[in-house]
Amino acid sequence: MTADDQKRAAGEAAAALAEAGMKVGLGTGSTAAWFVKALAARELDIRCTPTSRATADLGAGLGLRMFELDDLGELDLTVDGADEIGPGLSLIKGGGAALLREKLVWEASRRCVVIADAAKKVSTLGAFPLPIEVIPFGHRSTQARICDALVECDIGIAPRLRMKDGAPVLTDNGNYIYDAACGRIAEPALLAGVLKSVTGVVDHGLFLDLADIAMIGTASGVVTIEP
Ligand code: 5RP
Repeated sequence: MTADDQKRAAGEAAAALAEAGMKVGLGTGSTAAWFVKALAARELDIRCTPTSRATADLGAGLGLRMFELDDLGELDLTVDGADEIGPGLSLIKGGGAALLREKLVWEASRRCVVIADAAKKVSTLGAFPLPIEVIPFGHRSTQARICDALVECDIGIAPRLRMKDGAPVLTDNGNYIYDAACGRIAEPALLAGVLKSVTGVVDHGLFLDLADIAMIGTASGVVTIEP
């Protein structure tokens, strides 16, 4: 079974959680795309809000009814992928540069389901570089302040500006992404707090105490994990 088979199985299992009348948040990435496709195939009477322009295009193309988050208010269910799933369903997200809209949609949702292939499950967060969304104005100064914040957490590395085709990657919000290759995040809550306190940092990809359940595709089927 390939990683993509596992992502597909997890996405399809999560789509079965949706019910008619629900307001549903749609995640971003290759795993979330399997969820969106399986959800659309069910042809339920639901209203959806996307976490990125890419997901908005995918969902609308498949016939899902799309709304702005503020038009829906509290959501019943959000399903999204992750880059790492650690202890207590602590997560690293943002590999697809959608972390800010993802976190806004997750926080608006009564139930959040993370879906992934088996390789995403880790015993300690940090092998996957932590994405940090930063406003472009003064971003090199912000990078220096992020380094100071990382040192407070005993992480002595400099985050790197995410580039594509010779230019900084721009998020859907017009911001930059810095990736912090922490290696090992011993205290995710401490790191989350100090990063949020840096002026110029809009948000980071640590999703703590947000996931209610994980559905992970494995060689022996979809395994459900609760915090
Ligand atoms: C996008 C994300 C994605 O959910 C995360 O990168 C996982 O992606 P994939 O399902 O393609 O492995 O956080 O910002």
